[in-house]
Amino acid sequence: MDFVETKRRSNFTRKIVLAAGITAVFVFLFKRSPAPITSTKFSEHEPGVTHVLVTGGAGFIGSHAVLRLLKDSYRVTIVDNLSRGNMGAVKILQGLYPEPGRLQFIYADLGDAQAVNKIFSENAFDAVMHFAAVAYVGESTAEPLRYYHNITSNTLLIVEAMAAHNVKTLIYSSTCATYGEPDKMPITEETPQVPINPYGKAKKMSEDIIRDFSKTSNMGVMILRYFNVIGSDPEGRLGEAPRPELREQGRISGACFDAARGIIPGLKIRGTDYKTSDGTCVRDYIDVTDLIDAHVKALAHASPGKVGIYNVGTGKGSSVKEFVEACKKATGVNIKVDFLSRRPGDYAEVYSDPSKINNELNWTAKYTNLEESLSIAWRWQREHINGYNG
Ligand SMILES: NC(=O)c1ccc[n+]([C@@H]2O[C@H](COP(=O)([O-])OP(=O)(O)OC[C@H]3O[C@@H](n4cnc5c(N)ncnc54)[C@H](O)[C@@H]3O)[C@@H](O)[C@H]2O)c1
Ligand SMILES: *[C@@H]1O[C@H](CO)[C@@H](O)[C@H](O)[C@H]1NC(C)=O
Ligand SMILES: *[C@@H]1O[C@H](CO)[C@@H](O)[C@H](O)[C@H]1NC(C)=O
Ligand SMILES: *[C@@H]1O[C@H](CO)[C@@H](O)[C@H](O)[C@H]1NC(C)=O
Repeated sequence: MDFVETKRRSNFTRKIVLAAGITAVFVFLFKRSPAPITSTKFSEHEPGVTHVLVTGGAGFIGSHAVLRLLKDSYRVTIVDNLSRGNMGAVKILQGLYPEPGRLQFIYADLGDAQAVNKIFSENAFDAVMHFAAVAYVGESTAEPLRYYHNITSNTLLIVEAMAAHNVKTLIYSSTCATYGEPDKMPITEETPQVPINPYGKAKKMSEDIIRDFSKTSNMGVMILRYFNVIGSDPEGRLGEAPRPELREQGRISGACFDAARGIIPGLKIRGTDYKTSDGTCVRDYIDVTDLIDAHVKALAHASPGKVGIYNVGTGKGSSVKEFVEACKKATGVNIKVDFLSRRPGDYAEVYSDPSKINNELNWTAKYTNLEESLSIAWRWQREHINGYNG
Protein backbone atom coordinates (compact mmCIF):
# COMPACT_ATOMS: atom_id res chain seq x y z
CA MET A 1 0.00 0.00 0.00
CA ASP A 2 2.69 2.35 1.00
CA PHE A 3 4.39 1.62 -2.26
CA VAL A 4 1.39 2.59 -4.33
CA GLU A 5 0.95 5.74 -2.37
CA THR A 6 4.52 6.78 -2.96
CA LYS A 7 4.32 5.94 -6.62
CA ARG A 8 1.16 7.89 -7.11
CA ARG A 9 2.63 10.84 -5.32
CA SER A 10 5.78 10.76 -7.38
CA ASN A 11 3.75 10.56 -10.57
CA PHE A 12 1.86 13.58 -9.47
CA THR A 13 5.09 15.39 -8.64
CA ARG A 14 6.45 14.48 -12.03
CA LYS A 15 3.42 16.02 -13.73
CA ILE A 16 3.76 19.20 -11.77
CA VAL A 17 7.42 19.45 -12.61
CA LEU A 18 6.62 18.87 -16.27
CA ALA A 19 3.91 21.51 -16.29
CA ALA A 20 6.19 23.98 -14.56
CA GLY A 21 8.94 23.17 -17.04
CA ILE A 22 6.71 23.78 -20.04
CA THR A 23 5.49 27.04 -18.56
CA ALA A 24 9.05 28.13 -17.94
CA VAL A 25 9.99 27.37 -21.55
CA PHE A 26 7.06 29.42 -22.82
CA VAL A 27 7.83 32.31 -20.52
CA PHE A 28 11.43 32.17 -21.69
CA LEU A 29 10.45 32.09 -25.39
CA PHE A 30 7.91 34.81 -24.91
CA LYS A 31 10.40 37.02 -23.16
CA ARG A 32 13.01 36.40 -25.82
CA SER A 33 10.84 36.47 -28.91
CA PRO A 34 10.80 40.23 -29.55
CA ALA A 35 14.61 39.86 -29.45
CA PRO A 36 15.80 43.51 -29.48
CA ILE A 37 17.77 44.44 -26.40
CA THR A 38 15.18 46.66 -24.80
CA SER A 39 16.71 49.88 -23.62
CA THR A 40 16.78 50.22 -19.88
CA LYS A 41 17.08 53.25 -17.68
CA PHE A 42 20.75 52.41 -17.46
CA SER A 43 21.37 52.62 -21.18
CA GLU A 44 20.22 56.21 -21.74
CA HIS A 45 21.36 59.46 -20.20
CA GLU A 46 18.54 61.09 -18.33
CA PRO A 47 18.57 64.81 -17.57
CA GLY A 48 18.81 65.42 -13.86
CA VAL A 49 20.02 61.90 -13.10
CA THR A 50 23.70 61.15 -12.63
CA HIS A 51 24.56 57.55 -13.45
CA VAL A 52 27.71 56.42 -11.63
CA LEU A 53 29.68 53.31 -12.44
CA VAL A 54 31.12 52.00 -9.17
CA THR A 55 33.88 49.48 -9.82
CA GLY A 56 34.56 47.26 -6.83
CA GLY A 57 31.09 48.09 -5.50
CA ALA A 58 30.85 44.71 -3.77
CA GLY A 59 33.92 45.51 -1.67
CA PHE A 60 34.19 47.27 1.68
CA ILE A 61 34.53 50.91 0.63
CA GLY A 62 32.72 50.52 -2.72
CA SER A 63 29.57 49.07 -1.11
CA HIS A 64 29.42 51.96 1.36
CA ALA A 65 29.80 54.39 -1.56
CA VAL A 66 26.92 52.72 -3.40
CA LEU A 67 24.68 53.02 -0.35
CA ARG A 68 25.38 56.74 -0.06
CA LEU A 69 24.97 57.37 -3.79
CA LEU A 70 21.61 55.59 -3.84
CA LYS A 71 20.48 57.52 -0.79
CA ASP A 72 21.41 60.75 -2.62
CA SER A 73 19.34 59.69 -5.68
CA TYR A 74 22.17 58.74 -8.00
CA ARG A 75 21.72 55.88 -10.45
CA VAL A 76 24.34 53.22 -9.83
CA THR A 77 25.91 50.38 -11.76
CA ILE A 78 28.25 48.10 -9.83
CA VAL A 79 30.89 46.16 -11.72
CA ASP A 80 32.71 43.59 -9.62
CA ASN A 81 33.96 40.06 -10.18
CA LEU A 82 33.57 39.15 -6.51
CA SER A 83 37.19 38.06 -6.34
CA ARG A 84 37.35 39.93 -3.03
CA GLY A 85 33.92 41.46 -2.63
CA ASN A 86 30.67 40.04 -1.33
CA MET A 87 27.47 39.29 -3.22
CA GLY A 88 25.81 39.60 0.21
CA ALA A 89 26.56 43.33 0.21
CA VAL A 90 25.11 43.71 -3.29
CA LYS A 91 21.94 41.83 -2.23
CA ILE A 92 21.44 44.17 0.70
CA LEU A 93 21.80 47.21 -1.55
CA GLN A 94 19.38 45.69 -4.09
CA GLY A 95 16.90 45.02 -1.28
CA LEU A 96 17.08 48.64 -0.12
CA TYR A 97 16.68 50.09 -3.62
CA PRO A 98 14.65 47.63 -5.70
CA GLU A 99 13.01 50.27 -7.95
CA PRO A 100 13.91 49.97 -11.64
CA GLY A 101 16.71 52.25 -12.74
CA ARG A 102 18.32 52.65 -9.32
CA LEU A 103 20.94 49.91 -9.05
CA GLN A 104 22.24 47.21 -11.33
CA PHE A 105 24.99 44.71 -10.69
CA ILE A 106 27.22 43.44 -13.49
CA TYR A 107 29.52 40.53 -12.81
CA ALA A 108 32.67 41.12 -14.84
CA ASP A 109 36.41 41.16 -14.64
CA LEU A 110 37.89 44.61 -15.20
CA GLY A 111 40.98 42.99 -16.67
CA ASP A 112 38.86 41.78 -19.59
CA ALA A 113 38.98 44.61 -22.15
CA GLN A 114 36.18 43.18 -24.26
CA ALA A 115 33.86 42.82 -21.29
CA VAL A 116 34.69 46.35 -20.14
CA ASN A 117 33.99 47.77 -23.58
CA LYS A 118 30.67 45.97 -23.78
CA ILE A 119 29.66 47.41 -20.40
CA PHE A 120 30.51 50.93 -21.54
CA SER A 121 28.70 50.57 -24.84
CA GLU A 122 25.51 49.20 -23.27
CA ASN A 123 25.34 51.73 -20.45
CA ALA A 124 25.27 55.52 -20.33
CA PHE A 125 27.56 56.48 -17.49
CA ASP A 126 28.03 60.05 -16.37
CA ALA A 127 30.83 59.28 -13.95
CA VAL A 128 33.05 56.49 -12.70
CA MET A 129 34.20 55.84 -9.15
CA HIS A 130 37.02 53.39 -9.57
CA PHE A 131 37.50 51.43 -6.32
CA ALA A 132 38.25 47.95 -7.67
CA ALA A 133 41.75 46.87 -6.78
CA VAL A 134 43.82 44.55 -4.70
CA ALA A 135 44.91 46.38 -1.59
CA TYR A 136 47.36 44.70 0.78
CA VAL A 137 50.88 46.04 1.10
CA GLY A 138 52.40 42.74 2.24
CA GLU A 139 50.73 40.76 -0.54
CA SER A 140 51.95 43.30 -3.08
CA THR A 141 55.56 42.59 -2.14
CA ALA A 142 55.02 38.84 -2.44
CA GLU A 143 52.99 39.04 -5.68
CA PRO A 144 53.91 42.26 -7.50
CA LEU A 145 52.42 41.23 -10.86
CA ARG A 146 49.02 40.71 -9.26
CA TYR A 147 49.23 44.37 -8.22
CA TYR A 148 50.50 45.90 -11.45
CA HIS A 149 47.89 43.87 -13.32
CA ASN A 150 44.85 44.47 -11.15
CA ILE A 151 45.64 48.08 -10.27
CA THR A 152 47.67 49.70 -13.04
CA SER A 153 46.65 47.72 -16.08
CA ASN A 154 42.96 47.63 -15.11
CA THR A 155 42.95 51.38 -14.50
CA LEU A 156 44.39 51.90 -17.98
CA LEU A 157 41.54 49.83 -19.43
CA ILE A 158 38.95 51.85 -17.52
CA VAL A 159 40.40 55.16 -18.66
CA GLU A 160 40.53 53.93 -22.27
CA ALA A 161 36.91 52.83 -22.10
CA MET A 162 35.89 56.15 -20.55
CA ALA A 163 37.70 58.02 -23.33
CA ALA A 164 36.16 55.84 -26.05
CA HIS A 165 32.67 56.33 -24.67
CA ASN A 166 33.05 59.94 -23.64
CA VAL A 167 32.42 59.48 -19.93
CA LYS A 168 33.27 62.80 -18.41
CA THR A 169 34.13 62.33 -14.74
CA LEU A 170 36.48 60.01 -12.86
CA ILE A 171 36.91 59.70 -9.11
CA TYR A 172 39.97 57.58 -8.41
CA SER A 173 40.79 55.69 -5.17
CA SER A 174 44.42 56.34 -4.40
CA THR A 175 46.32 55.96 -1.19
CA CYS A 176 48.82 57.51 1.19
CA ALA A 177 51.03 54.53 0.25
CA THR A 178 51.95 56.52 -2.88
CA TYR A 179 53.98 58.87 -0.66
CA GLY A 180 56.28 56.20 0.73
CA GLU A 181 58.29 57.42 3.70
CA PRO A 182 58.26 61.21 3.64
CA ASP A 183 60.77 63.05 5.86
CA LYS A 184 58.26 65.65 6.88
CA MET A 185 54.89 65.28 8.54
CA PRO A 186 52.08 66.02 8.00
CA ILE A 187 51.73 64.84 4.41
CA THR A 188 50.41 67.48 2.03
CA GLU A 189 49.48 66.91 -1.61
CA GLU A 190 52.86 68.50 -2.47
CA THR A 191 54.80 65.88 -0.51
CA PRO A 192 56.93 63.99 -3.08
CA GLN A 193 55.49 60.61 -4.05
CA VAL A 194 58.18 57.99 -3.58
CA PRO A 195 56.31 54.74 -2.98
CA ILE A 196 58.27 51.90 -1.40
CA ASN A 197 56.14 48.83 -2.20
CA PRO A 198 54.41 47.50 -5.34
CA TYR A 199 50.98 48.49 -3.99
CA GLY A 200 51.99 52.14 -3.65
CA LYS A 201 53.89 52.04 -6.95
CA ALA A 202 50.99 50.51 -8.85
CA LYS A 203 48.65 53.22 -7.50
CA LYS A 204 51.16 55.96 -8.32
CA MET A 205 51.46 54.62 -11.89
CA SER A 206 47.68 54.68 -12.20
CA GLU A 207 47.64 58.27 -11.01
CA ASP A 208 50.29 59.13 -13.61
CA ILE A 209 48.28 57.51 -16.40
CA ILE A 210 45.18 59.43 -15.36
CA ARG A 211 47.02 62.75 -14.97
CA ASP A 212 48.83 62.50 -18.31
CA PHE A 213 45.65 61.56 -20.10
CA SER A 214 43.70 64.38 -18.50
CA LYS A 215 46.13 66.90 -20.03
CA THR A 216 44.89 65.83 -23.45
CA SER A 217 41.19 65.55 -22.70
CA ASN A 218 38.39 67.39 -20.99
CA MET A 219 37.71 64.66 -18.51
CA GLY A 220 37.14 65.96 -14.98
CA VAL A 221 39.23 63.98 -12.51
CA MET A 222 39.44 63.77 -8.75
CA ILE A 223 42.19 61.66 -7.18
CA LEU A 224 41.59 60.91 -3.51
CA ARG A 225 44.49 59.60 -1.46
CA TYR A 226 43.02 57.80 1.50
CA PHE A 227 44.73 57.21 4.79
CA ASN A 228 43.70 54.23 7.00
CA VAL A 229 40.03 53.45 6.59
CA ILE A 230 37.96 52.15 9.52
CA GLY A 231 34.31 51.92 10.58
CA SER A 232 31.17 50.88 8.75
CA ASP A 233 27.59 51.93 8.08
CA PRO A 234 26.21 53.49 11.31
CA GLU A 235 22.86 51.84 10.60
CA GLY A 236 24.50 48.43 10.52
CA ARG A 237 23.46 47.43 7.00
CA LEU A 238 26.97 46.98 5.64
CA GLY A 239 30.31 46.03 7.12
CA GLU A 240 33.85 45.01 6.30
CA ALA A 241 34.10 41.33 5.40
CA PRO A 242 37.42 40.41 3.86
CA ARG A 243 38.01 36.87 2.63
CA PRO A 244 39.15 34.63 5.49
CA GLU A 245 42.33 33.80 3.60
CA LEU A 246 43.25 37.50 3.62
CA ARG A 247 43.06 37.74 7.41
CA GLU A 248 46.80 37.24 7.65
CA GLN A 249 47.39 40.26 5.41
CA GLY A 250 44.78 42.11 7.34
CA ARG A 251 44.49 45.53 8.72
CA ILE A 252 44.67 46.36 12.40
CA SER A 253 40.89 46.79 12.88
CA GLY A 254 40.21 43.32 11.46
CA ALA A 255 42.90 41.79 13.64
CA CYS A 256 41.55 43.56 16.69
CA PHE A 257 38.01 42.24 16.09
CA ASP A 258 39.35 38.74 15.45
CA ALA A 259 41.17 38.92 18.77
CA ALA A 260 38.04 40.17 20.53
CA ARG A 261 36.11 37.22 19.12
CA GLY A 262 38.80 34.74 20.09
CA ILE A 263 39.53 33.72 16.49
CA ILE A 264 43.15 34.67 17.13
CA PRO A 265 44.73 34.54 20.58
CA GLY A 266 45.63 38.20 20.76
CA LEU A 267 47.22 41.16 19.06
CA LYS A 268 50.86 41.45 18.20
CA ILE A 269 52.19 44.98 18.29
CA ARG A 270 55.36 45.17 16.28
CA GLY A 271 57.70 47.90 17.39
CA THR A 272 57.62 49.86 20.63
CA ASP A 273 60.75 51.93 20.12
CA TYR A 274 59.69 54.27 17.35
CA LYS A 275 60.23 57.99 17.89
CA THR A 276 56.59 58.62 18.70
CA SER A 277 54.77 59.66 21.86
CA ASP A 278 54.42 56.10 23.18
CA GLY A 279 56.91 54.26 20.92
CA THR A 280 54.31 52.57 18.69
CA CYS A 281 53.53 53.55 15.09
CA VAL A 282 51.21 56.44 14.43
CA ARG A 283 48.60 56.39 11.67
CA ASP A 284 45.76 58.62 10.49
CA TYR A 285 42.46 56.71 10.70
CA ILE A 286 39.46 57.86 8.70
CA ASP A 287 35.90 56.61 9.08
CA VAL A 288 34.39 55.18 5.90
CA THR A 289 31.33 57.44 6.27
CA ASP A 290 33.59 60.50 6.12
CA LEU A 291 35.60 59.00 3.28
CA ILE A 292 32.49 58.44 1.17
CA ASP A 293 31.30 61.95 1.94
CA ALA A 294 34.58 63.15 0.39
CA HIS A 295 33.76 61.13 -2.76
CA VAL A 296 30.33 62.67 -3.11
CA LYS A 297 31.78 66.17 -2.65
CA ALA A 298 34.54 65.36 -5.14
CA LEU A 299 31.96 64.22 -7.67
CA ALA A 300 30.00 67.44 -7.22
CA HIS A 301 33.12 69.59 -7.62
CA ALA A 302 34.78 67.77 -10.53
CA SER A 303 35.18 70.08 -13.50
CA PRO A 304 36.07 69.33 -17.13
CA GLY A 305 39.77 69.30 -17.96
CA LYS A 306 40.84 69.62 -14.34
CA VAL A 307 42.50 67.20 -11.94
CA GLY A 308 41.87 67.66 -8.23
CA ILE A 309 44.16 65.77 -5.88
CA TYR A 310 43.24 65.48 -2.23
CA ASN A 311 44.42 63.74 0.88
CA VAL A 312 41.54 62.24 2.80
CA GLY A 313 42.45 61.91 6.46
CA THR A 314 41.70 63.63 9.73
CA GLY A 315 45.07 65.32 10.11
CA LYS A 316 45.50 63.68 13.48
CA GLY A 317 47.60 60.59 14.10
CA SER A 318 46.77 57.88 16.62
CA SER A 319 49.29 55.41 17.95
CA VAL A 320 48.81 51.66 17.75
CA LYS A 321 48.54 51.61 21.55
CA GLU A 322 45.76 54.19 21.43
CA PHE A 323 44.06 52.19 18.73
CA VAL A 324 44.15 49.02 20.80
CA GLU A 325 42.79 50.83 23.86
CA ALA A 326 39.91 52.19 21.77
CA CYS A 327 39.29 48.72 20.42
CA LYS A 328 39.19 47.21 23.90
CA LYS A 329 36.60 49.79 24.93
CA ALA A 330 34.57 49.35 21.75
CA THR A 331 34.44 45.57 22.04
CA GLY A 332 34.38 45.33 25.82
CA VAL A 333 37.02 42.60 25.55
CA ASN A 334 40.31 42.82 27.36
CA ILE A 335 42.32 41.80 24.30
CA LYS A 336 45.66 40.21 25.00
CA VAL A 337 48.55 42.19 23.54
CA ASP A 338 52.07 40.99 22.83
CA PHE A 339 54.80 43.50 22.15
CA LEU A 340 57.31 42.36 19.55
CA SER A 341 60.20 43.91 17.70
CA ARG A 342 59.70 46.11 14.63
CA ARG A 343 58.36 44.71 11.35
CA PRO A 344 60.65 45.60 8.44
CA GLY A 345 59.26 48.26 6.16
CA ASP A 346 56.96 49.98 8.66
CA TYR A 347 57.40 53.70 9.07
CA ALA A 348 56.99 55.44 12.37
CA GLU A 349 54.48 58.12 11.70
CA VAL A 350 52.04 58.88 8.90
CA TYR A 351 49.34 61.49 9.02
CA SER A 352 47.75 63.86 6.59
CA ASP A 353 47.33 67.55 6.23
CA PRO A 354 43.71 67.72 5.07
CA SER A 355 43.53 71.50 4.68
CA LYS A 356 43.29 71.38 0.89
CA ILE A 357 40.16 69.26 0.88
CA ASN A 358 38.77 71.27 3.81
CA ASN A 359 39.22 74.51 1.87
CA GLU A 360 38.37 73.45 -1.65
CA LEU A 361 35.61 70.87 -1.12
CA ASN A 362 34.36 72.09 2.26
CA TRP A 363 34.97 68.60 3.61
CA THR A 364 35.96 67.72 7.15
CA ALA A 365 35.94 64.40 8.97
CA LYS A 366 32.82 64.57 11.10
CA TYR A 367 32.24 60.95 12.04
CA THR A 368 35.74 59.77 12.74
CA ASN A 369 36.32 58.95 16.37
CA LEU A 370 38.39 55.86 17.10
CA GLU A 371 36.20 54.42 19.81
CA GLU A 372 32.90 55.35 18.17
CA SER A 373 33.95 54.21 14.67
CA LEU A 374 35.22 50.91 16.07
CA SER A 375 32.04 50.40 18.13
CA ILE A 376 29.94 50.73 15.00
CA ALA A 377 32.14 48.33 13.08
CA TRP A 378 32.20 45.91 16.02
CA ARG A 379 28.39 45.84 16.21
CA TRP A 380 28.27 44.59 12.61
CA GLN A 381 31.17 42.17 13.15
CA ARG A 382 29.55 40.65 16.22
CA GLU A 383 26.30 40.07 14.37
CA HIS A 384 28.03 38.69 11.29
CA ILE A 385 30.47 36.11 12.52
CA ASN A 386 30.73 34.70 9.00
CA GLY A 387 30.62 38.05 7.25
CA TYR A 388 27.73 38.37 4.81
CA ASN A 389 27.09 34.64 5.08
CA GLY A 390 25.69 35.06 8.55
N1 LIG B 1 40.87 49.92 2.95
C1 LIG B 1 41.79 50.89 3.07
O1 LIG B 1 42.25 51.20 4.18
C2 LIG B 1 42.28 51.63 1.84
C3 LIG B 1 43.24 52.64 1.99
C4 LIG B 1 43.68 53.34 0.87
C5 LIG B 1 43.13 53.05 -0.37
N2 LIG B 1 42.23 52.06 -0.52
C6 LIG B 1 41.69 51.78 -1.86
O2 LIG B 1 40.28 51.75 -1.82
C7 LIG B 1 39.78 50.86 -2.82
C8 LIG B 1 38.78 49.91 -2.20
O3 LIG B 1 39.40 49.17 -1.16
P1 LIG B 1 38.61 48.17 -0.21
O4 LIG B 1 39.28 48.22 1.11
O5 LIG B 1 37.16 48.43 -0.31
O6 LIG B 1 38.98 46.76 -0.89
P2 LIG B 1 38.06 45.48 -1.18
O7 LIG B 1 38.98 44.36 -1.48
O8 LIG B 1 37.06 45.30 -0.09
O9 LIG B 1 37.26 45.87 -2.49
C9 LIG B 1 37.81 45.79 -3.79
C10 LIG B 1 36.73 45.25 -4.72
O10 LIG B 1 37.21 45.22 -6.05
C11 LIG B 1 36.84 44.00 -6.66
N3 LIG B 1 37.81 43.68 -7.73
C12 LIG B 1 39.15 43.52 -7.59
N4 LIG B 1 39.70 43.23 -8.77
C13 LIG B 1 38.69 43.18 -9.68
C14 LIG B 1 38.62 42.93 -11.05
N5 LIG B 1 39.72 42.66 -11.77
N6 LIG B 1 37.43 42.96 -11.66
C15 LIG B 1 36.32 43.25 -10.97
N7 LIG B 1 36.31 43.51 -9.65
C16 LIG B 1 37.49 43.47 -9.01
C17 LIG B 1 36.86 42.99 -5.55
O11 LIG B 1 36.05 41.88 -5.84
C18 LIG B 1 36.33 43.81 -4.38
O12 LIG B 1 34.92 43.75 -4.30
C19 LIG B 1 41.00 50.19 -3.42
O13 LIG B 1 41.30 50.83 -4.63
C20 LIG B 1 42.08 50.43 -2.39
O14 LIG B 1 43.35 50.44 -2.97
C21 LIG B 1 41.78 51.35 0.57
C1 LIG C 1 38.59 38.26 -11.21
O1 LIG C 1 39.48 38.96 -12.04
C2 LIG C 1 40.81 38.49 -12.05
C3 LIG C 1 41.63 39.38 -12.93
O2 LIG C 1 41.75 40.63 -12.40
C4 LIG C 1 40.86 37.06 -12.50
O3 LIG C 1 42.18 36.61 -12.52
C5 LIG C 1 40.03 36.24 -11.54
O4 LIG C 1 40.00 34.90 -11.95
C6 LIG C 1 38.62 36.77 -11.50
N1 LIG C 1 37.88 36.06 -10.48
C7 LIG C 1 36.66 35.61 -10.66
C8 LIG C 1 36.01 34.91 -9.50
O5 LIG C 1 36.06 35.76 -11.70
C1 LIG D 1 45.19 39.75 -10.57
O1 LIG D 1 46.13 39.48 -11.57
C2 LIG D 1 46.71 38.21 -11.56
C3 LIG D 1 47.60 38.15 -12.77
O2 LIG D 1 48.77 38.82 -12.52
C4 LIG D 1 45.65 37.13 -11.52
O3 LIG D 1 46.26 35.86 -11.43
C5 LIG D 1 44.72 37.36 -10.34
O4 LIG D 1 43.73 36.39 -10.27
C6 LIG D 1 44.12 38.73 -10.51
N1 LIG D 1 43.01 39.04 -9.63
C7 LIG D 1 43.07 39.22 -8.33
C8 LIG D 1 41.77 39.56 -7.67
O5 LIG D 1 44.08 39.14 -7.68
C1 LIG E 1 30.33 73.83 4.33
O1 LIG E 1 29.71 72.73 4.96
C2 LIG E 1 28.93 73.08 6.09
C3 LIG E 1 28.37 71.78 6.66
O2 LIG E 1 29.38 70.89 6.93
C4 LIG E 1 27.81 74.00 5.69
O3 LIG E 1 27.08 74.39 6.84
C5 LIG E 1 28.39 75.24 5.00
O4 LIG E 1 27.35 76.04 4.53
C6 LIG E 1 29.29 74.82 3.84
N1 LIG E 1 29.95 75.99 3.29
C7 LIG E 1 29.94 76.24 1.98
C8 LIG E 1 30.72 77.47 1.57
O5 LIG E 1 29.35 75.56 1.16
